Amino acid sequence: MELLKQIEAVVREAGEIVLSARDVLDCTMQKTSAADLVTAYDLKVEQLLKERLPQLVPGSIFFGEEEKENADPSKGWAFIVDPIDGTANFVRGLRQSAVSVALAKDGQVEYAVALDPYRNELFTAKRGEGAYLNGQPIHVSDRPLEKGIFGMGSAPYNKGLHAATLDLLGQMFDRSCDFRRMGAAVLDLCAVACGRLDAFFEYELCPWDYAAASLVITEAGGTISTLEGKPIPVTEKCTVWASNAVNAHVLSELRV
Ligand code: IPD
Ligand code: CA
Ligand code: CA
Repeated sequence: MELLKQIEAVVREAGEIVLSARDVLDCTMQKTSAADLVTAYDLKVEQLLKERLPQLVPGSIFFGEEEKENADPSKGWAFIVDPIDGTANFVRGLRQSAVSVALAKDGQVEYAVALDPYRNELFTAKRGEGAYLNGQPIHVSDRPLEKGIFGMGSAPYNKGLHAATLDLLGQMFDRSCDFRRMGAAVLDLCAVACGRLDAFFEYELCPWDYAAASLVITEAGGTISTLEGKPIPVTEKCTVWASNAVNAHVLSELRV
């Protein structure tokens, strides 16, 4: 079976664990703050992915959000994994969460699989071969921001970034129709990739939040970078800006 299909099969199994969740509040723990949570299901999904994914690519490393210690994902083959993106939604039963897996080679994402198990929507991409939603090709919108809706994340785990976030939100809101804050960065970014949203920003995301979706976006004709206009790294957290092609220029007009 082709590697992308093999990764898809493992991610679908992980999605079944998310859908099987019961009494989530009973197994929820706080990480760095009351906003930053992990559940037994995040750990169970990550364990499955850690057992199964590296077997698909001999010699590959596993870089996961819930790992105690991670190896450097910028060398050789590396799986970059968010077992449940949107844990705060998951804990509250908001049904807006995803399982996200990227496979990078020497720091460049080559394969991407992100699953919204609630809507049964599977976003996939292989470098140079386009982006797909449930097997159908997807493309970013051609809507200018003035007629568009953007998504944003609030960098909820870093209070030091809240003022900057609200300032940029105001600037973007002023020049658009509206915004959404849906709570799962992977799905926000994939929403840009398939034209449901026209741009996205967040002041702090980690590689597991954006690695898979970054390939889905670029293969769908969109752009993704830091808010400073630099390439997004696979090794450390950064600011994130994503957009369709017609809104790419907006970044240079913002005060960030
Ligand atoms: C979070 C979500 C959220 C974003 C945070 C992320 P997690 O991921 O994607 O939308 O605002 O910055 O950390 O913690 O639920 O995997
Ligand atoms: Ca995440
Ligand atoms: Ca997570």
